[in-house]
Amino acid sequence: MEQLYQPVETNECSKLEKLEIELLLEGIYRHYGLDFRNYNFSSVRRRIWHRIQLEKLTSVTSLLDRVLREPQMMDKLFSDLSINVTEMFRDPDFFKAFRMRVAPVLKEVPIIRIWHAGCSTGEEAYSMAILLHEEGLLKKAKIYATDMNERVIMKAKLGRFPLNKMQGYTSNYVASGGKQAFSEYYKVVSEEVEFHPFLRENIIFAQHNLVTDSSFNEFHVIICRNVMIYFDRDLQDRVHHLMFESLAPSGFLGLGNRESISYTKFNQFYQEIDSNEKIYQKMKL
Ligand SMILES: C[S@@+](CC[C@H](N)C(=O)[O-])C[C@H]1O[C@@H](n2cnc3c(N)ncnc32)[C@H](O)[C@@H]1O
Repeated sequence: MEQLYQPVETNECSKLEKLEIELLLEGIYRHYGLDFRNYNFSSVRRRIWHRIQLEKLTSVTSLLDRVLREPQMMDKLFSDLSINVTEMFRDPDFFKAFRMRVAPVLKEVPIIRIWHAGCSTGEEAYSMAILLHEEGLLKKAKIYATDMNERVIMKAKLGRFPLNKMQGYTSNYVASGGKQAFSEYYKVVSEEVEFHPFLRENIIFAQHNLVTDSSFNEFHVIICRNVMIYFDRDLQDRVHHLMFESLAPSGFLGLGNRESISYTKFNQFYQEIDSNEKIYQKMKL
């Protein structure tokens, strides 16, 4: 049997391997229209090798061969590449800052449109619905929650999450400044909890790819956390452009504590509202 390459962690990427990965990503783009060519290289490389090892293949090119011929293999690699880790009230300080600094301003806006870009299975959007409800803003809000991965969008629409996650989510909710008992928002259905339907009445879940799709509305708030960390600088710039175009004057951009606008050319068009949680307000030009 052909020898596997060295595990990725211990091996510098050779020129040949880099070429193979570029050909794989190009093949995926040309055959399936899915564009991972400007994702962070080392993260994509790790995920590709994870799949190669699970499938007991020997090289990137052997994976390319399978991916092009077998849509099911593409599905698997797509799941590997779209990292769907999320939580309710993830990084509670973000929601705390949003409640303190952004919600009071939104009280003055007659209809609020919020876009969660890269919402995964929906926990972030349900958290926002709870926050808006407690601030008396939910009825006049529309939350657009999008992700490139249709499978996570289908899950998000169900509004059901594992019961064993609730303890952690309750702590997050309390730390975020939540005002009620968290358990009031859901009912337990066997090993899962189902969030109250009133929370999702104002949420529209839809598939949208930040790389290949365009803007679809004008928003008062755009939240895009833990998504652009997987993109290279060039793609980050393109997505920042899309967000800038999609934000209303004086609209808010929430990036979370792992990202920043400071190294992009859009920096000059935003005022920083919270320096830790990277919440910005678009300046009126
Ligand atoms: C780590 S999750 C973050 C979820 C949530 N925003 C949070 O912070 O908990 C990243 C999500 O971004 C999505 N994503 C990655 N690339 C995307 C793209 N080009 N367009 C839209 N969504 C994308 C993935 O499918 C995944 O669900």
